Amino acid sequence: MNKPTLINVPRGLLAKVKAHAKHSAFTPDEYLAFQQREALADYHRQQEQVQAERQQRAVKSLLERSGVQDIYLAATLEGYQVYRPEQATAISTCRKYLSNFGQYGAVKNMVFCGSTGTGKNHMASAICNALNASGKSAVVATALEIQMKARAARRHDSHLTEDRVIASFANVDLLVLDEIELGSTSDYDSKIVNAVIDQRVTKGKGTVVLTNMGFEQLGTYVGERIADRLFASFYLVECFWPSFRTNKPAVTNGE
Ligand SMILES: Nc1ncnc2c1ncn2[C@@H]1O[C@H](COP(=O)(O)OP(=O)(O)O)[C@@H](O)[C@H]1O
Ligand SMILES: [Mg+2]
Repeated sequence: MNKPTLINVPRGLLAKVKAHAKHSAFTPDEYLAFQQREALADYHRQQEQVQAERQQRAVKSLLERSGVQDIYLAATLEGYQVYRPEQATAISTCRKYLSNFGQYGAVKNMVFCGSTGTGKNHMASAICNALNASGKSAVVATALEIQMKARAARRHDSHLTEDRVIASFANVDLLVLDEIELGSTSDYDSKIVNAVIDQRVTKGKGTVVLTNMGFEQLGTYVGERIADRLFASFYLVECFWPSFRTNKPAVTNGE
């Protein structure tokens, strides 16, 4: 049985509704136009989703593993144990970044500086996991991985090109650039990472940088131009507390 639609409503009744309603009611024509707009918006939403999934698959096949390493696939912000005030700040910054992600005027980038084992990968992967679960494409890659892929694409027998490698990392909704200081610093290799960051900033896409360096040192390392672009809109999370790997706190979350 067909559901009655506004189109089937007698015109006389519509006139009455119009006379009494504060805001004018849809005419059948307007309703049709409204339906078409909604259908088109649905279509665009689906297309965006398909595009995001395609991007994610492209990068994942480039990395030959899931962008988020297996040990971090289950990482959540809730699962991060807070036993110092700086960690509470770090987690609330992650939450803020995540909940505003992709919105107009939201902070674009994040930088996690700090010693090893403090949970930088855990927090960044938790952000990626949440974004991936909501249909966005978010990927973790080390600077070296991106450089190696670009190098491989340069070989004459490769079906890829450097430009395609750069584009695939430039196009995901979120790129977590891990171990930036362990990337190769040859002219060719550092240009690859710079090109990825550059394209992402130009496209208005967010990038999260993870490093064991201090913030000042990071600025010097990436150079003034990239630093200016990345730090135009970013949250800084400084993680300088004992490693969770070697020094698990005796008391956690008030247990
Ligand atoms: N505060 C924390 N609560 C729970 N797990 C943590 C915490 N800090 C680190 N970890 C865990 O310790 C391991 C090392 O953390 P990781 O994120 O790799 O550190 P980093 O990238 O800073 O070197 C990971 O398995 C991570 O899930
Ligand atoms: Mg790490």
